[in-house]
Amino acid sequence: MESFDRSVIDGVLKKHGNDGASLIAILRNVQGECGYLPKEVLQYVSQKLDVPLSKIFCVATFFSSFSLEPRGKNVVSVCSGTACHVKHGGGVADRLTRQLKLSADGKTTADRGFTLEKVRCMGCCSVAPAVRVNQDTYGHVTQDAVNEILKKYGKS
Ligand code: FES
Repeated sequence: MESFDRSVIDGVLKKHGNDGASLIAILRNVQGECGYLPKEVLQYVSQKLDVPLSKIFCVATFFSSFSLEPRGKNVVSVCSGTACHVKHGGGVADRLTRQLKLSADGKTTADRGFTLEKVRCMGCCSVAPAVRVNQDTYGHVTQDAVNEILKKYGKS
């Protein structure tokens, strides 16, 4: 049984011409509508575009901006690249994990308020360690600053 609205996905495909040439843009729009990329939606997109599901999964898993799992309202990305690691980014990541009350393998808070993701270099090494929340990037982040950053996004 499908758990998504076909008309919403059809609308995205119609906007992009249904030819599969704009697969990244299509997946970006689908994720915007669904919050992530559910498997059944990707299967539907595969059928409609006549593009192998394996190719769609390749694209969806290559770019870190795509998620195959539901994400929280706020996505917190903590950099684990070399420059951030050297500048104690690991401690910042640990503090974020504790502050969000996530288990070691947990990525999303129980209330779906936050998703914490570790990413490779965010391209702002000069301000390492770096954290991004949604579209906002924070540099020179200390463990003590984590609480104030999360408060801006509604974490009490
Ligand atoms: S290594 Fe963290 S921003 Fe480059």
